[in-house]
Amino acid sequence: MEFIEYPDAEMMMMNLANTLAGEVRQALSQQETVSIAVPGGSTPGPVFDALAAVDLDWARVRVMLTDERWVPETSPRSNTRLLRARLLTGHARAATLVPLYLDAPTPEECLAELAATITAALPLRLVLLGMGEDMHTASLFPGADRLQEGLTGDAVILPMRASGVEEPRVTLTAQVLGGALSRHIVITGAAKRAALERARGLPAEQAPVAAILNGSIIHWAES
Ligand code: 6PG
Repeated sequence: MEFIEYPDAEMMMMNLANTLAGEVRQALSQQETVSIAVPGGSTPGPVFDALAAVDLDWARVRVMLTDERWVPETSPRSNTRLLRARLLTGHARAATLVPLYLDAPTPEECLAELAATITAALPLRLVLLGMGEDMHTASLFPGADRLQEGLTGDAVILPMRASGVEEPRVTLTAQVLGGALSRHIVITGAAKRAALERARGLPAEQAPVAAILNGSIIHWAES
């Protein structure tokens, strides 16, 4: 694991966007299509803004979320909504969205369909992940109902429910996240840094982010 500390979050977001754009550009010079996965939540918006403004051959890029809350796109909690507003705009408007949400009451009803499109887009060239203070990443939450499968199973996507988590989630599994050629984790603040340090000494069942730390690059700024 590599840890990069930045003077402030603004600089971190710009640098990170440049790094990700460079990796995508390089991959596009070697292969016809490139797949990437990015998180939702409150942290990555500025990275998306910077990335969307980069002139790449986005028409050959497939973008998926690392995880989604099972809410329609009309909800402000929808990560897909965030993605459309902040990443799939500007130059990146030409990219293809690989959905993690379909309009159904529960994720179980369309899991096979979601899994088929995700599988067709694999492997991931890169993944960007967020992390919570409880050491979850994507929607692999400590204590979640299908965490063990998410950490060690063969599925590409799983529904996930955990106490304290508002709505059902779907998440890419550790197998898919770990299969990405490069992995970046973006976090801000002292509490998340401390959580990350804690996670390094814990089993993934208690600290799910630990499952993908090996070989990951952590990008951190205080604020
Ligand atoms: C989500 C995410 C999730 C996120 C972390 C960190 O849907 O919430 O994809 O895994 O990355 O919870 O969230 P914040 O950036 O909001 O702290």
